[in-house]
Amino acid sequence: CGIVGVTGKKNTVEILINGLEKLEYRGYDSAGIFVDNQTGEDYLVKEAGRISNLKSAIDDNIHGTAGIGHTRWATHGVPSKFNAHPHVSEDGRFYLVHNGVITNFSELKAQYLKDVNFVSETDTEVVVQLIGYFANEENLTAKQAFKKVLSLLEGSSYAFLMMDREEPETLFVAKNKSPLLIGVGDGFNVVCSDAMAMLKETHDFIELMDGEMVVVKPGSIEIENKNGEAVSRDSYHVEMDDSDSEKGAYPFYMLKEIDEQPAVMRRLLSEYVENEETVKIDDHILNAMKAADRLYIVAAGTSYHAGLVGKELFESLANVPTEVHVASEFGYHMPLLSEKPFFIFLSQSGETADSRQVLVKVNEMMYPSLTITNSANSTLSREATYTLLLHAGPEIAVASTKAYTAQIAVEALLAKALGTVTGQVKAIDYDVYHELTAVANAMQAMVDEKESINDLAKEFLSETRNAFYIGRGIDYDVSIEAALKLKEVSYVQTEGFASGELKHGTIALIEKGTPVVAIITDAPTASHTRGNVQEVLARGANTITISMESLANEGDQIVLPDVSDLLTPLVSIVPAQLLAYYTSLNRGYDVDKPRNLAKSVTVE
Ligand code: G6P
Repeated sequence: CGIVGVTGKKNTVEILINGLEKLEYRGYDSAGIFVDNQTGEDYLVKEAGRISNLKSAIDDNIHGTAGIGHTRWATHGVPSKFNAHPHVSEDGRFYLVHNGVITNFSELKAQYLKDVNFVSETDTEVVVQLIGYFANEENLTAKQAFKKVLSLLEGSSYAFLMMDREEPETLFVAKNKSPLLIGVGDGFNVVCSDAMAMLKETHDFIELMDGEMVVVKPGSIEIENKNGEAVSRDSYHVEMDDSDSEKGAYPFYMLKEIDEQPAVMRRLLSEYVENEETVKIDDHILNAMKAADRLYIVAAGTSYHAGLVGKELFESLANVPTEVHVASEFGYHMPLLSEKPFFIFLSQSGETADSRQVLVKVNEMMYPSLTITNSANSTLSREATYTLLLHAGPEIAVASTKAYTAQIAVEALLAKALGTVTGQVKAIDYDVYHELTAVANAMQAMVDEKESINDLAKEFLSETRNAFYIGRGIDYDVSIEAALKLKEVSYVQTEGFASGELKHGTIALIEKGTPVVAIITDAPTASHTRGNVQEVLARGANTITISMESLANEGDQIVLPDVSDLLTPLVSIVPAQLLAYYTSLNRGYDVDKPRNLAKSVTVE
């Protein structure tokens, strides 16, 4: 979910809507705003669906100097107008937006709110009703009631933003686990889930720590910690430009972001490589990694898939055993750890709750950690021992593309640097600068093949119900990511499979016309995968082969320029991203905002 708020500005509605549009990647199944226009009229507007629906429902005459807004990714309660935020206390006094999950909401509801008529199924409404209840029952001020309720939410995750109609210029803010920032202005202040939402208003932000509560007025920001003590904290400056997150002439962000990949590779080389040779990674990071006997990569979704390729890189170049884990599993069912583990968190957003939960535990166990992220001031970046940045620029499309390839490239650079300091001949000899330059050129060759890839998408994928990607070794890692890309944006049920394993059961699903895309860049197993392609062809499958030039056969539909065998995922994923993009487009879907998904999932 995404949260915005502002106090002390005349064009409140415009600021809220612009902010929500920038946060739409965090959820888009319903949205709402509350603006106090100081006439006593109720300016609460909510709509199911996209921000555009909300926008058209707003009366142009709403003016006010303070307001809050929300775009939702449903957890408790179906996506609908009733369940959309802001939620309101029964007496119409308090308005609340929330991101997170209140674990004990049913208990609280049963204990205090038996007589209240609820209009939604959300945990959030329980919180705002409780605030109203205590304010009335115990004659508390808004702040006192807010704090009292916060103290009852032990263990829950929340970013809250509340308004009280009796103090219309004040924003009440609280944060635990879910991200929330205060933006600092001159004579006004803003609140947002992500700085991107408010870059038009300010570039200076204050981060909040878990358990903190803030009272924000046009001219003041008062932060209190869990124990009620005042906290003073400097703001940090965000360099990014508002226009960095525009899609320009592109019809969709996903296509823009696919196209940007060669440039991201070149940017990473200029950020991380000196004199076309030496990888610059902070010595502290390399020393901590050197001291470790095993690397644990923890991530979710596409970032997890980038971790799978990372394992190949760290084991081959740096000769260090590496495990890759899905964050939501690792957090609660940790495997037996080695004696000296080192943790790597891969996260585009740096906010994924599943990954953050693991980091909290890793910190409790006092193990060293590194976050590799696209977002410099994100929670995972602040809380890990070390951070490396992806320098990919804002990634807006929900389906991740350039962050995946940037993650793999940073892992390659790190593996090269680590292997070099630990004296691994393979790493010392690995010319990562020239290999990644070759990758950037090969990626460019692939993005230039858009039209022929669209033709393949039309021919093989536009009507199908299901599909397979197959590969071996590093091509298997890519198959899983390629399958995720296709399924998440086109809703074609797609599985990524180790091609040798297909015959042991899953081949039963191959029927006449089932699309099977084979990725063949792994020389030692290329002929075996070719054999597996024949097996599915014999059972009626339609096959597409993506192969590397030196391994290509006549008839392969997509041929990739040769690159270093450890870096082929960076190139082979590009046609798969384009197949996904065009299939979604050809089927008439909103490519950038697939159903049921959110880009940054800040609940577990
Ligand atoms: C969400 C997104 C995925 C993403 C995953 C992890 O589920 O829809 O595209 O891969 O979160 O996100 P992160 O920001 O941690 O890389």
